[in-house]
Amino acid sequence: MMFRGFSAAHRRVRHATGWSSLALGLTLLGAVPAAADAPLPRIVAQNGRHALEVDGKPFLMLGAQANNSSNYPEMLPTVWPVLDAMHANTLEMPVAWEQIEPEEGKFDFSWPDTLVREARAHGKRLVILWFGTWKNTGASYAPQWVKSAPDRFARMRKADGTPHMVLSPHDPDTLKADARAFAALMAHVKAIDPDHTVIMAQVENEVGSYGLARDHAPEAEAQFRGPVPAALARTEGKSGTWEQVFGLHAEQAFSTWAFASYIDKVAAAGQAQLDLPMYVNASLGSADSDKPGETGPYGGPSWNMIAIWKAAAPHIAALAPDIYNRDEAFVAKILDRYGRADNPLLVPEIGNSPDHARFLWPVLGHGGIGFAPFGMDSSGYSNYPLGARPDQDAEAVTAFGAAYGLLAPMASDWARIALENPTWGTAKAADGADQSTVMGTWKITVQYARWAFGANGSDGAAHPLKDKPIGGATVAQLGPDTFLLMGQHVRIRLDDATADPRRPAEILSAEEGHFENGHWIMKRRWNGDQIDYGFNIGPDPVMLKVTMGHYH
Ligand code: DGJ
Repeated sequence: MMFRGFSAAHRRVRHATGWSSLALGLTLLGAVPAAADAPLPRIVAQNGRHALEVDGKPFLMLGAQANNSSNYPEMLPTVWPVLDAMHANTLEMPVAWEQIEPEEGKFDFSWPDTLVREARAHGKRLVILWFGTWKNTGASYAPQWVKSAPDRFARMRKADGTPHMVLSPHDPDTLKADARAFAALMAHVKAIDPDHTVIMAQVENEVGSYGLARDHAPEAEAQFRGPVPAALARTEGKSGTWEQVFGLHAEQAFSTWAFASYIDKVAAAGQAQLDLPMYVNASLGSADSDKPGETGPYGGPSWNMIAIWKAAAPHIAALAPDIYNRDEAFVAKILDRYGRADNPLLVPEIGNSPDHARFLWPVLGHGGIGFAPFGMDSSGYSNYPLGARPDQDAEAVTAFGAAYGLLAPMASDWARIALENPTWGTAKAADGADQSTVMGTWKITVQYARWAFGANGSDGAAHPLKDKPIGGATVAQLGPDTFLLMGQHVRIRLDDATADPRRPAEILSAEEGHFENGHWIMKRRWNGDQIDYGFNIGPDPVMLKVTMGHYH
């Protein structure tokens, strides 16, 4: 992302309070944001829902990830202003193996030292992305002494014996070296970060192997011919060879077990030093077809391999989808597939184009604990067509920043609400059609590109957003008849799902406001035109607390 024009975008975002002024205050005071004995961040679960806890309280990660090569001190001035402009509370930033162990056994922690110090001064939390053995499956971030010693640190082998670029997950020497480096990093973070500015770690990046289903080196080949490990046989409810247990998916399952077991050991070594929540991000393939090779790189945390990851990697709290697809139906399916009772939903990467921003609403509706557009800095790089075009910087900051600006001051309140209550959310689909769900006895309908006035909202000129992929909404049900609604560029309607003419429904109250320390603070009541045609939310996201009733 280029962000030459982000300051103009910043002016357009309404909610300019919060982190930037907080950061200034903290810098002046030389203080840290939490007490020295702050509790460890952790992920909690309740009735199949989840929250990330930071400082002992639920925390919604309104994140942003920097570009890959922004992981150097001199690049940080291109990062913080963009995070401030978009009201992000967390920076996801790589710490590369090659950076901290440029020579074998000699560690240099100057980068994490700078990163943690600056994050604290800017009032941001950090997620450390451990670019170790694998980054987008490749070995590029492993130190040179690893990359240039293929006899010591083996690459995967194809069936004909030739090498494949991916470091083999079956090599105990690579595992030992990576785990040692990651453990050293976590031990160092523990020493410099008593307040837990660092709230999570991502172990490796988009792991697996493209184009090669499994390692054919002799030891790996022997393992593939042998029985599946007993622990996996137990969770699968069958034993036998990989082919007997997994059939068509035998090679993918085998590779998945190898990558997941390796990463679990790296994570365990790190957690033995500092017990942070750790997750693994997934490069996504098809959301529908699970034919071998179609759900993402072999061995990665693809949706059809989640059970194997859970069995092999108990130290990994979440398997987390990286979303670059812009199609609403695809995204909805992926959120369903990864947001499970046994897997907290975290979206550690999403494209940074303005149309990706609308997916925050369904992520929150699926109970997501965190969200982060990728490439949010002004280093001059754009990953279009995955993310925003270079000329869309200002628009992108505004698109993400508008929703973040609403949520940032109540990130903890929202995270608690989402832990404790049913939620639902959706984003505009390609056809712009209405979307609905039923919560309790109420039908919630979300509509797009409607004028705010009029029953249909379609009289007058064609709506300028008619064909634009913009708009979305999130709903939380606080009680049988009470809902929190938020969104952007939508009309939200609440109707009695039973539609009983003997007791028609009506709005008892609709308040615009926000939460502060668990308390609802009303700004104004919506009434008259503002409720006669549904709840119409424009470019400035708002939170509404609505109570419905009946008359007879
Ligand atoms: C997904 C990876 O995880 C990121 O590090 C980055 O390479 C993007 N793809 C592409 O910009």
